[in-house]
Amino acid sequence: MPERTPDERLQNEFNRWAEQGRGEEMEHHHLDITEKTIRLMNLRRGERVLDPGCGSGWATRLLARLVADGPDGFGQVVGIDVSDEMIRQARAASKDFDNILYVWGSAQQIPWEENFFDKVLSVESFYYYPDQDRALAELFRVMTPRGQMFILINLYKDNPYSLQWVDKLKVPVHVRSEAEYVELLKKHAFYNVEARRILDDSPTPDDYRGQSFRSVEDLRAFKKIGALLLTASKPDLRTPAPGYTIY
Ligand SMILES: C[S@@+](CC[C@H](N)C(=O)[O-])C[C@H]1O[C@@H](n2cnc3c(N)ncnc32)[C@H](O)[C@@H]1O
Repeated sequence: MPERTPDERLQNEFNRWAEQGRGEEMEHHHLDITEKTIRLMNLRRGERVLDPGCGSGWATRLLARLVADGPDGFGQVVGIDVSDEMIRQARAASKDFDNILYVWGSAQQIPWEENFFDKVLSVESFYYYPDQDRALAELFRVMTPRGQMFILINLYKDNPYSLQWVDKLKVPVHVRSEAEYVELLKKHAFYNVEARRILDDSPTPDDYRGQSFRSVEDLRAFKKIGALLLTASKPDLRTPAPGYTIY
């Protein structure tokens, strides 16, 4: 397919990943840091969660189990991805779930109503978004007042071992520092903006032969520094701060 836009370039590249089985494979690489993040999300039954850049949907399914039917209602999870092939695979693997909807689309133009999602979890996807400002404006729009966002990023300036990916990836990526990301989120009027590191404690095979790192030592050093987790909330604009009146 001819590529006209940055999103179409991402679509083509991640369709290729999906066809090579890399969508499912990413579960092994991201499960440890994602489970630790999900524990921090304090999910409750009945909540509505968005998973932008859901890939093959393994994390979407973890989320869906945690918010499903309960005394507080029926929780739903929406996974959105720019790769239609990832979405096809995610749907095929999620036939047993009646509280997941997978949507083919861009995080820069989320096909959803405003003030809907209580929580957002994005795993290893945010640095690909060509226009991160636009994606943040969209995430802000679809989140509920006081909704919480959790963005996990493995490729960032403060983890020098991750930077070897930049030239290997066939699509452009943003390389920002923790401090730059915090500023970016604050600029978009999110509050409680925090950054922390999530260490990857999964076992590292001594006979590592993967393509992502030059050596097993680099992989170990990368995991020791950990992923960047950005957390932020959408303010409740309906509730005036003490002393202020909304006209
Ligand atoms: C490295 S994969 C991670 C997938 C999944 N979250 C996981 O951890 O297995 C990045 C995903 O982000 C998706 N993606 C990239 N740019 C996107 C955009 N602009 N909008 C929505 N999804 C996007 C890709 O198609 C891909 O599935």
